[in-house]
Amino acid sequence: MKILGIETSCDESAAAIVTHQKQILSHVIYSQTDHLAYGGVVPEISARSHLQKIDYIIERTLSDANLTLDDIDAIAATSGPGLIGGVVVGCVAAKALAMIKKKPFIAINHLEAHALTARLTHDIEFPYLMLLASGGHTMIVLASGVGKYKILGRTIDDAIGEAFDKVAKMLGLEYPGGPIIETKAKLGDEKRFRFPTPLLNQDNLDFSLSGLKSAVRREIEKMGKLTDQDRADIAASFQYTIGKIICSKLLKAMDIHTNATKKIVVAGGVAANQYLNSKIQTLADKCQFTLYVPPMKLCTDNGAMIAWCGIERFRLGFTSPLSFVPRSRWSLEDL
Ligand code: KG4
Ligand code: ZN
Repeated sequence: MKILGIETSCDESAAAIVTHQKQILSHVIYSQTDHLAYGGVVPEISARSHLQKIDYIIERTLSDANLTLDDIDAIAATSGPGLIGGVVVGCVAAKALAMIKKKPFIAINHLEAHALTARLTHDIEFPYLMLLASGGHTMIVLASGVGKYKILGRTIDDAIGEAFDKVAKMLGLEYPGGPIIETKAKLGDEKRFRFPTPLLNQDNLDFSLSGLKSAVRREIEKMGKLTDQDRADIAASFQYTIGKIICSKLLKAMDIHTNATKKIVVAGGVAANQYLNSKIQTLADKCQFTLYVPPMKLCTDNGAMIAWCGIERFRLGFTSPLSFVPRSRWSLEDL
């Protein structure tokens, strides 16, 4: 079985062809750089860019795999949640190809695609706990099957990736902030600044990051002109604090659900962060959980995760009507 997956929900235009035997036959990704000057993704610019690139990306994905659409069993596309202009571009392209070629169409929930990527890269059975942390979402989830997710906690304000992006912007660094903060932090002193950890001691699994972000802003304003070392120290102290918050919440989650599973997955763009993963690894070892993290290039948005999610759904008989309406909001619990 071969599925073409299309991803256009944020600033990556991507497509891939994946088989049910977990082979990625081709994998094309175009990361938009038009947003650098704005310090974040501009929805209109993003949608236009997806529109310009999508045909080429799909053609290239097919030609790289030496296949035509006739060889493909079904076409899957992110159909929400995300920036609606981009989501519409990918979803409509997939539906048009499905209609012309009389192939099944599969509307993919972008968050479910992140949630299932670990099953593409590792042999991991349900149920598992998962931290899903991206630019738009942060949640702790119990995944018990395809389409079966229980959100145990979530951010009440900013997503973790968003906090990385905003702090990077405050430091005059480029978008996306996550990888740059991680690199800068390697040269910094993580104990120099003591930033707040909101909700840390509350008994729930929710996150709050806006207070941390504001504290970083106040510190930067107080310091005035920053040296490179100041920037590195702020990046390191911020990342350290994020690690502390994540570990505290995951510890609670593992504690509560220790009888349900001994597996934990980290997914979404923030899962590309090696520092955070090493903190989570130490915690998982302590709690006797096995940690699964997809390789970095499959943590951030890509077409393979969409195609794989398509495989997971298609083999269970789930397809979508061509009347499926793309959506900007779509909870993991509404699948
Ligand atoms: O999953 P993703 O590619 O797109 C969304 O679905 O949002 O995640 C993008 C987010 C961005 O906020 C980016 O800064 C963050 O993931 N990110 C990272 C790292 N690499 C990407 N955050 C922290 N450390 C990283 N190494
Ligand atoms: Zn994503």
